[in-house]
Amino acid sequence: MFNAKEFIQNSLKEIADSVGDSRVISACSGGVDSTVATYLVHKAVGDKLVAVFIDDGLRREGEPEFVVRILKELKINTRYIDAKEEFFKTFEGKTDAEEKRKAFRDKFYSTLGKVAKEEKIKFICQGTIKADIIETVKGIKSQHNVLEQIGIDSQVYGYKILEPLRELFKPEVRMVARELGLPAEISERMPFPGPALSLRILGVVTAEKAAIVRKATVIVEEEASALGSFQSFAVLHNDKATGIKDGNRMYGNIITVRIVHSKDAVTASAVNVPFELLAKISKRITTEIPSVVRCLYDITDKPPATIEFE
Ligand code: XMP
Repeated sequence: MFNAKEFIQNSLKEIADSVGDSRVISACSGGVDSTVATYLVHKAVGDKLVAVFIDDGLRREGEPEFVVRILKELKINTRYIDAKEEFFKTFEGKTDAEEKRKAFRDKFYSTLGKVAKEEKIKFICQGTIKADIIETVKGIKSQHNVLEQIGIDSQVYGYKILEPLRELFKPEVRMVARELGLPAEISERMPFPGPALSLRILGVVTAEKAAIVRKATVIVEEEASALGSFQSFAVLHNDKATGIKDGNRMYGNIITVRIVHSKDAVTASAVNVPFELLAKISKRITTEIPSVVRCLYDITDKPPATIEFE
């Protein structure tokens, strides 16, 4: 049986021993994994920690403000890095899912590397958990936060990596979050992938497409909140479909709604959502987002699908 208290004690000691008198940067997206990892480092080294929130332009509505507020409330030194333009630039011309994942990973680590250089810091902490490592090592996909386990030395980016949660799965991370006394808006937060909306934009990722999928995400999350699902979100297709708006033919966007149950994200099942609710989501998406003419619901389990689309 996993003992969160014991894990925290051992982890604080391990972090303090690894970094000694050095300062540490922690990459925090505001998700449960990276916030727990950041808070552990904060408890272990106090003011020697700088939490970094990278705004890649792919976060959900209101998320940058939310994360900065939470880190402030936890009294953690925080830097907000506006890297929106650079991230969209890195996606230019890239349509293949793995190529996009690798481009995100490279931009993520080089942005952190720049901050580490400015701050003269050698250690970077991140919230990688066991499922991230397993899927990357198995070759299912390149998680944005797995490097050393696939033979890439983090020193190429100029720092050493700390991964205090590398042996845990999501339910255990939530137990640690509760034991640490983190607010429920963190400990119970719906999982959201590091590469963010880029995994939910098929084809080339652009700021315009991010704006569309961001709006659809708000609607899906609002309407699905009572279902208690593991994840609920929207995906923007690369191709278009014919539709009718205001009596005129329109060649517009397609959104897929994905709502899944899962324990640990390793397997998942599509939620049997009442048709009335699906119809309401479709109505809202196609009326509140002018460019969308068609809305689909994904009924595929994992496997054979994955939870995200890319
Ligand atoms: P898949 O799509 O592989 O997703 O079934 C399993 C879980 O992991 C999340 N996910 C990621 N999280 N970096 C992350 O931090 C990633 O690169 C990544 N890819 C997928 C996904 O949201 C789901 O919870």
